[in-house]
Order: sequence, then C-alpha cells, then structure tokens
Amino acid sequence: MASSGGKNINAKLVLLGDVGTGKSSLVLRFVKGQFMEFQESTIGAAFFSQTVAIDETAIKFEIWDTAGQERYHSLAPMYYRGAMAAIVVYDITNQNSFDRAKKWVQELRLQGDLDMVVALAGNKADLPDARKVTTEEAKAYAQQNGLFFMETSAKTAVNVSDIFQEIARRLLQLRPTQNPAATGAVLVGNRPQESVANSQSCC
Ligand code: GTP
Ligand code: MG
Repeated sequence: MASSGGKNINAKLVLLGDVGTGKSSLVLRFVKGQFMEFQESTIGAAFFSQTVAIDETAIKFEIWDTAGQERYHSLAPMYYRGAMAAIVVYDITNQNSFDRAKKWVQELRLQGDLDMVVALAGNKADLPDARKVTTEEAKAYAQQNGLFFMETSAKTAVNVSDIFQEIARRLLQLRPTQNPAATGAVLVGNRPQESVANSQSCC
C-alpha cells in the first residue's frame, strides 16, 4: 500500500470493552468489510492485521481483539502491554458497558504505555431508539480524560475506518522522529526503550 519511497510502520492496537459491545464486529468490518448479525463471543483473543495509508506512510495495524467476558480479564495485560493504541468500546444502548469502558480507561492509564493513543468508540450507533448513553455524556468524559471519541456502527460501517484512520494519524503525529529513512520499517509499540538500548549498545 505504501508508495515507493514511503515508510512502513507496524503498530500494535488492542480492542477492549464489555462483552457484546461489538469489538469483533468492528474489526470484521474494518478488516473484511463484513458484518454478522450473530457474531460469536470471542474466546481469549483473536488477531488480525490491516494496513492504512496516511500520506506517504503505510501503517500496518496488528490488532488484538480481546474477549469481553469477565473470566478473560486477567489475560488483557498481555494484549495491551506494548500496544501503541487502544480502542475502548461500549454499546450506546447499554449503560453498564459505558461504566465498564471507564474502568478499562483507568486500567490503561495505570498499566498501559504512557503515550498510548486511546480511542473511545460508542458502538451500535444505528440503534438510536434504544440509546442509553448520550453523545454529550460520552464526549464530555472523553474530553476530560484525553481520549478521542467517535460513535460507530459495525453494522452500517459508520465511522469504522475513520476511527482507525484517526488513530494512525495521531500515531504519526506523536512519533514523527521515530519514522526511519525512506522504505525502512519500524515497529511502533513494542518496547521502544529496548530498541533504543540495543542501538546504543557499545563499549
Ligand atoms: P465479546 O467477544 O463477547 O467480548 O463481544 P464483542 O464485543 O466482540 O461483540 P460482537 O462483535 O461479538 O457483537 C455482539 C453482538 O452485537 C453481535 O450479535 C453483533 O451482530 C452485534 N453488533 C455488533 N456491532 C453492532 C452494531 O454496530 N450495530 C448493531 N445493531 N449490532 C451490532
Ligand atoms: Mg468478540
């Protein structure tokens, strides 16, 4: 996807959120352009990748779609550790899922990388009649907590590629100096301090 002379960046991204909020559906929509009315609940986690282009740079997202069921909670750090971006998903028709999203944001702030780009996705925006979480409430929460916020629908595709594009843009803004010379590949999100240590090993 990168034009010749462009750069390639790999970025680990994790999706977190309550069971049934639509994490897998968002990934399926983004990666395959599909939607399933009866998407199966994720067991453990699933891995996908998809590349987006921002100007001359190809950003390959390495996506960990985690399971929302509480019994898998203890696995989550494996997936968000070293991640450069996270999408915390709630369901606009379910207030509990919004409360759960806030808990995930807290956990990421305490245990995730400090410069992680965190997006808040209010999914199932195609169900306005069943809405329980207002746009204003979520927007205000996102602003207070340094997240960027979009309401999405995996079903209709509204804002799905947009949220990944915006994450890619923010990753590039945060790390312009990590972009290597043309055509070089760099791994964004896997222990940058280790690669710095390696490159400085001498004497
Ligand atoms: P776990 O893997 O159990 O954590 O759930 P999940 O967050 O991956 O949710 P999943 O993608 O499995 O979606 C749960 C249900 O919600 C499925 O029946 C989907 O079809 C439905 N769903 C997902 N996204 C949307 C959406 O944007 N709109 C509507 N109407 N339904 C959706
Ligand atoms: Mg799932």
